[in-house]
Amino acid sequence: MYARIIGTGSYLPEKILTNDDLSKLVDTSDAWITERTGIRERRVAAEGEKTSDLALAASRKAIEAAGISPSEIDLIIVATTTPDLIFPSTACILQQKLGIPGCPAFDVQAVCSGFLYALATADNFIRAGSSRCALVIGAEIFSRILDWSDRTTCVLFGDGAGAAVLKRDQVPGVIATELHADGRYTDILRVPGNVAEGAVKGKPYLEMDGPAVFKFAVKALGDAAESILASQRVAKTEVDWMIPHQANLRIIESTARRLDLPMSKVVVTLPYHGNTSAASIPLALDTAVRDGRVKKNDLLLLEGIGGGFAWGSALVRW
Ligand code: UT7
Repeated sequence: MYARIIGTGSYLPEKILTNDDLSKLVDTSDAWITERTGIRERRVAAEGEKTSDLALAASRKAIEAAGISPSEIDLIIVATTTPDLIFPSTACILQQKLGIPGCPAFDVQAVCSGFLYALATADNFIRAGSSRCALVIGAEIFSRILDWSDRTTCVLFGDGAGAAVLKRDQVPGVIATELHADGRYTDILRVPGNVAEGAVKGKPYLEMDGPAVFKFAVKALGDAAESILASQRVAKTEVDWMIPHQANLRIIESTARRLDLPMSKVVVTLPYHGNTSAASIPLALDTAVRDGRVKKNDLLLLEGIGGGFAWGSALVRW
């Protein structure tokens, strides 16, 4: 028994914040941001808009594309680092908004690799026979955990959501997933604050050692991509599309180089939404599915990394 992705959807909030807009807030420039990251603009959720709202909009599109009734969904997994509340989970809030009470619903917290963690979890539920039709979402509102006076981080992130419907099938679908984590690196990318005793304790904003993260990401992502191909005995040349986490164009290019993949086989949506953490892979996937780049039987290599450190890859037959 395998899981097959039968529909995708995505959603970006309306408000666009360009690099020029940011240069009015902090000492930065469109030239610096574009050259060092590849990002041109990002989206910012409206006041009152919640992560579950972004997830709902992306989910509705994925459900429509899958051609299923919402009532067929028997598992909901939301990958997010920016949940609506400490609890209940954003997945439970989303379930209520979708009007499909009863099925298991939970969040996965693996920051920018969250979608891969959620996809791997849903894939295993389906392979084990515990689910027939799973809804997997990456949704984030990072704009609310950014220090807007810190130019080294605020220019990098944005808000958005992407979703996929996975259905049980005789043929794969999700061929393989591979997850990794190394908690020795918690300090180079984190939000150190938490809520306790009626107050926010510690800094509730993202802090990052950018160059250290960059170095770690380049090696880990290259290794993860090579490792999943080797374990499945798939040649690099067989990959039709690499759909990477959208954090930095230079990191994406480096993984593509290591796999000898031309950039024409890499889906890059980063310029239009920046790093949307768990949402970035499903946002890129949905874009490439809807614009017709990803075609039936194409072999997709998904890869991503984020705070934890946590990272992973997936091989998917479309
Ligand atoms: O999802 C996973 C999480 N995140 C990532 O994957 C991000 C990984 N890291 C990166 O993408 C890059 O390290 C950054 C884009 C964050 C930074 O690029 P960099 O080439 O590593 O630059 P840097 O941090 O070494 O900084 C170079 C210079 C510094 O100035 P000095 O010390 O050379 O005078 C910074 O202060 O650029 C300066 N700088 C900026 N200048 C203009 C840093 N941020 C900015 C900015 N605008 N926004």
